[in-house]
Amino acid sequence: MVYESVDQIDFAVSDCPAMPLQGCVVMATPAHYDVQYVINPHMAGHVGNVDRVRAQRQWETLQDTYRALGMEVHSAEGVEGLYDMVFAANAAAAFLFPDGKSPGIIMSRMATPSRYGESIHYERFFRELGVDVRHLPEGLTFEGGADAIWHPGRRLIWGGYGQRTDRATHDAISAMLDVPVIPMRLDDEAFYHLDTCLCVLDERTALICPAALRSEDISMIRRLFERIVEVPEAEARERLSCNAHCPDGRHVLLQKGCPQTTQRLRDAGFVPVEIDVGEFLKAGAAVYCMKLTMW
Ligand code: ARG
Repeated sequence: MVYESVDQIDFAVSDCPAMPLQGCVVMATPAHYDVQYVINPHMAGHVGNVDRVRAQRQWETLQDTYRALGMEVHSAEGVEGLYDMVFAANAAAAFLFPDGKSPGIIMSRMATPSRYGESIHYERFFRELGVDVRHLPEGLTFEGGADAIWHPGRRLIWGGYGQRTDRATHDAISAMLDVPVIPMRLDDEAFYHLDTCLCVLDERTALICPAALRSEDISMIRRLFERIVEVPEAEARERLSCNAHCPDGRHVLLQKGCPQTTQRLRDAGFVPVEIDVGEFLKAGAAVYCMKLTMW
């Protein structure tokens, strides 16, 4: 079932079957990362402007941080000419079979031709990892975990559409996985994936940028999350502070230099972990984009 409005929501989060948190991240090495075209407004003015040495260091720091938090980390090899392949969040969306053990993924289908070439490499990587690989019906665009975000610990998906991912993709995902999906429409080009304006922190708490979401969609978020931490629009727009990641319900990894977001997270009892991924902000991406989470 796909839910369009708050009055359709006839269930509580606790009615959705429990699932473990995702303990595994997939990242793609940044040796071939660059900004060579503009497919989102953040990239404008940054073509040819990436410091690859710094990018490599920032990527390693993020990977080390995941390891230090006890996450299992897998690295896919970046490929020459695929400048955005480093943003693994877009490669696929992970799911867990009802047996609670075997992981699967639904491959994405990128919206922009400049990223089409990534899929074949990611698909090979996932197969080698022994993951069950599924595909959407032909003709639907889908940008992976960036537009399909699991509610922490529950069989329920928050979906993004309107910029990169098609609205109909969420009907397909809901049917394929037999899972409720709540799609959120993205109207502002600066917030082109759902992960730029909604970050799920724990089963009860979400971090959102209200300026990027429709009021009906915010009502659905408020209906299912007990606590909302609001991010100021400027930090979300300019430094992608909502593109954060809370792997364990406690630590929140986010772009360095977002003081208001960081303070609000602390006030809500979370532990912000500031990481500088400034070289990747030039491509319109922060922490969340740089990895795919799996079980
Ligand atoms: N330059 C990339 C694009 O526009 C950045 C992708 C960021 N990924 C994300 N999950 N928000 O496609």
